[in-house]
Amino acid sequence: MERTCTRAASGTILFLLLWWCLSFLSMADVIYRPTDLFSISCGSSTNFSTLDTRNWTSDNHFLSPTNPSVAAPSLTPSTIEGPYTHARLSHSPFTYSFPLTPGPKFIRLFFYSTSYQNFPRSLSSFSVQAGPYTLLHDFNASLNADADDDPSHPDILFKEYCINLQDADKLNITFLPSTTDSYAFINGIEIVSMPPYLYYTDPDDSTEQPQFVGTMTTYVVESKFALETMYRLKAGEHTISSSEDTGMLRTWDADSKYLETKSEESIEFKNPTNLSFTKKIPNYTAPDQVFRSVRNMGRDASINMRNNITWQLTVDSGFTYLLRLYFCELNPSVDEAGVLRFFIFIHDQLATDWADVFMWTKQWGVPVVKEYVVIISENPKKVNLSLKMHPHPESIIQDAQINAIEIFKISNYRSSLAGPNQDPPLQTAVVSRQGSNKKKGASKKTLTAVTGTVFGVLLLSFIVTFFFVKRKKNIGIESKKVGTSRRDVSSSLPTNLCRHFSIAEIRAATNNFDKLFVVGVGGFGDVYKGYIDDGSTTVAIKRLKPGSQQGLNEFMNEIEMLSQLRHLHLVSLIGYCYESNEMILVYDFMDRGTLRDHLYGTDNPPLSWNQRLQICIGAARGLHYLHTGAKQMIIHRDVKSTNILLNEKWVAKVSDFGLSRIGPTGSSMTHVSTKVKGSVGYLDPEYYKRQRLTEKSDVYSYGVVLLEVLCGRQPLLRTVEKKQVSLVDWAKHRHEKGSLGEIVDPALKGQIAPHCLRKFGDVALSCLLEDGSQRPSMNDVVGVLEFVLQLQLQETAHSDVVWESGGDYESSTTEDMFSSSHSNSSGLNSTSYGNKESDRLISENVFSELKDPKGR
Ligand SMILES: *[C@@H]1O[C@H](CO)[C@@H](O)[C@H](O)[C@H]1NC(C)=O
Ligand SMILES: *[C@@H]1O[C@H](CO)[C@@H](O)[C@H](O)[C@H]1NC(C)=O
Ligand SMILES: *[C@@H]1O[C@H](CO)[C@@H](O)[C@H](O)[C@H]1NC(C)=O
Ligand SMILES: *[C@@H]1O[C@H](CO)[C@@H](O)[C@H](O)[C@H]1NC(C)=O
Ligand SMILES: *[C@@H]1O[C@H](CO)[C@@H](O)[C@H](O)[C@H]1NC(C)=O
Ligand SMILES: *[C@@H]1O[C@H](CO)[C@@H](O)[C@H](O)[C@H]1NC(C)=O
Ligand SMILES: *[C@@H]1O[C@H](CO)[C@@H](O)[C@H](O)[C@H]1NC(C)=O
Ligand SMILES: *[C@@H]1O[C@H](CO)[C@@H](O)[C@H](O)[C@H]1NC(C)=O
Repeated sequence: MERTCTRAASGTILFLLLWWCLSFLSMADVIYRPTDLFSISCGSSTNFSTLDTRNWTSDNHFLSPTNPSVAAPSLTPSTIEGPYTHARLSHSPFTYSFPLTPGPKFIRLFFYSTSYQNFPRSLSSFSVQAGPYTLLHDFNASLNADADDDPSHPDILFKEYCINLQDADKLNITFLPSTTDSYAFINGIEIVSMPPYLYYTDPDDSTEQPQFVGTMTTYVVESKFALETMYRLKAGEHTISSSEDTGMLRTWDADSKYLETKSEESIEFKNPTNLSFTKKIPNYTAPDQVFRSVRNMGRDASINMRNNITWQLTVDSGFTYLLRLYFCELNPSVDEAGVLRFFIFIHDQLATDWADVFMWTKQWGVPVVKEYVVIISENPKKVNLSLKMHPHPESIIQDAQINAIEIFKISNYRSSLAGPNQDPPLQTAVVSRQGSNKKKGASKKTLTAVTGTVFGVLLLSFIVTFFFVKRKKNIGIESKKVGTSRRDVSSSLPTNLCRHFSIAEIRAATNNFDKLFVVGVGGFGDVYKGYIDDGSTTVAIKRLKPGSQQGLNEFMNEIEMLSQLRHLHLVSLIGYCYESNEMILVYDFMDRGTLRDHLYGTDNPPLSWNQRLQICIGAARGLHYLHTGAKQMIIHRDVKSTNILLNEKWVAKVSDFGLSRIGPTGSSMTHVSTKVKGSVGYLDPEYYKRQRLTEKSDVYSYGVVLLEVLCGRQPLLRTVEKKQVSLVDWAKHRHEKGSLGEIVDPALKGQIAPHCLRKFGDVALSCLLEDGSQRPSMNDVVGVLEFVLQLQLQETAHSDVVWESGGDYESSTTEDMFSSSHSNSSGLNSTSYGNKESDRLISENVFSELKDPKGR
């Protein structure tokens, strides 16, 4: 997100502004004096100052004499004052080298996207590397400038980062063109020191660490991370310019344009209460103005109670974000804890239900900053991170308030902060470009817009058709439910979204059910690998043993469920065949078989810890979608490691919906409560005992899978010592003793960072709590596992310190433990609950309980 870096100024008001600025300067208290301060104007040969009090110097001292870049003036002068008269440009990489003291620094980059001599505007595309960190990757400046339609700084792009220089005394910043045809450029670079623990977490102070939203844990912003400032907003309509900051030249933007509803008000407290800074929040944290202007909801309690005060802040997906929320109580009518208490939601998750500034500070005028960390999951597009606040019903004044918001992107495990480029602008860009001095792209853009419109119409008609078809299909299902019997199958099966195969097609696909094509065998029948559409598509074909009414129910159930569901992490049903007494289901083929095939009792090479985490996250997302994403909640009822399949790219897909139910109030409940179904070793004891089915039963079974993944053994092993028979009991026991590390799969030795192991253990065992209501939701599980993966990736990217046979856990018995559990789980022939057949299945056992009660 580009923010205004300088204010527009021209002609006669320039003098007035200068006068005002200088008079202000003499009054301003510069509280913090940075040890390093460089503002360089790239490509410029002179030194000059700007109204924002920056003293720009030429960049000659910071380039090596042999560098390939050239300096050039911009062909169109910028209307904005700053380092924009010249740029440094090159078709090959060039590097700036700054002499710096160790410690945290701001790095600020200033770009003016225009044409320079011999460098046309649209050909810039480059990456920027600062020390070990990637700040920008294949950054197309013209594209980003066009997407940013803020008229206050046309074609100016501004980026601010924080990095922590460990002990090096030089920082190299390198600009790398993306291709030989494109070029890299830069107009200005600024480096400013900041106090040690302003944004990084103080490792010696464990009292106030950022809270990781959605979990009970905290997060440490470690000095090895780089940060990118996404937003620095203060309440109100006015910005605080860099010259009015406490000495670090930060700009504080107005929050008003990010508010979803504009009814909220901002108040300036000019009362005489002095601000009392603390050791935790010293006076350089933010200018006084920040703490004296507050945003709240308005005054009418009844309206406040019906609304959230909401900011929508667009960010890149797939990163972790740090939110710093600034508060200060200066309202004389708030004189006690409990008078003004509110909720804070971040990204629609509850961050706190007890925000009460007076309770935190015990007096007026004490600034306080609360920090939260949230992961924004991978998404093809940019997403909005929302911050919402809402009055607590027990609060005396029913309102919510805040002074300022900062949002930082945290570098990922590749030490990168680079997000994708902005989406190319469509029609709106054409309008805003008209009348501007850049006519060259206009006709091309109009063409793009026309193409876009045509495409849009086509897309729209496609969507309409899709919904029409979907509606028809739903009506089909509805009417089927009204009908009492399911025997009349062929007329009621959905034929629109799900394909119908003739038995002849299936025979052709499987070479007439050739035994050579069998990839799985189970109590219900065989699974074949087959080829349809003239061999162009590989599919898995499940042929049910004919003739059973119950098999028919589950056949119907699976078609009904799966044809309604489409998700990356659910196996897709391509079609079915119900003909000549055959019940056949056709799925996407999953090249790598079941998760269990890669955990134990197999010749496959062991999965790495990161692969396992990714698979667990995928499966958890699939289950989360089942529970919340469809029209009605769907409970899988048979989550286990053989029902999680892997495609050739190791993407996990939940399969086997033969037992799934719409829950928890579905019409089939009476039937469910009379007969508990599921697989032995995975069954939720609460469901088993009370026969009450909720989505938390899936959470329990999923917890068992997490333990299988961690320990590489079956849920139940009959041949081991009694206390080790049940993996769940055994893991609970070890976890309580703090020695979960001892039962970790030996194949994972040396791969797991110690605190990842702890967090993973915590989440697995919380899924396995006796009381279903205490178990996390699948959404929470996804959050924690993503967090564990990020931790793990960061850990392994930055150091070699990972869990080694026991690690910080006691390690004496590790080896014995591993050898006993491993030798037993590896033999398919060993007597155990898992049977030989099921271990080989590609898509397991929905129907096995009919023929093979041992498997359940
Ligand atoms: C510009 O400023 C730098 C650093 O303060 C100084 O070394 C240099 O001599 C100045 N150049 C000119 C042309 O004044
Ligand atoms: C720029 O130079 C002036 C005059 O020496 C000084 O007052 C001001 O603080 C400098 N600006 C910055 C940002 O250091
Ligand atoms: C940058 O984006 C613009 C607009 O999409 C495109 O026309 C141009 O070719 C891109 N430049 C490079 C170097 O990729
Ligand atoms: C920085 O760049 C200079 C020359 O461009 C090079 O000599 C030096 O080794 C680099 N330092 C680091 C830490 O990469
Ligand atoms: C605020 O501080 C000033 C100067 O330190 C002092 O004169 C004044 O009395 C203080 N005001 C209050 C309300 O404490
Ligand atoms: C800021 O705080 C420091 C230490 O607490 C103090 O020495 C300094 O005078 C304060 N500066 C201002 C401008 O209040
Ligand atoms: C994000 O929020 C802004 C402002 O409320 C809105 O204009 C935009 O459409 C939203 N974007 C997404 C992806 O929801
Ligand atoms: C406020 O936002 C939260 C989180 O998205 C939501 O759960 C809640 O229902 C909203 N409250 C109101 C009154 O809109």
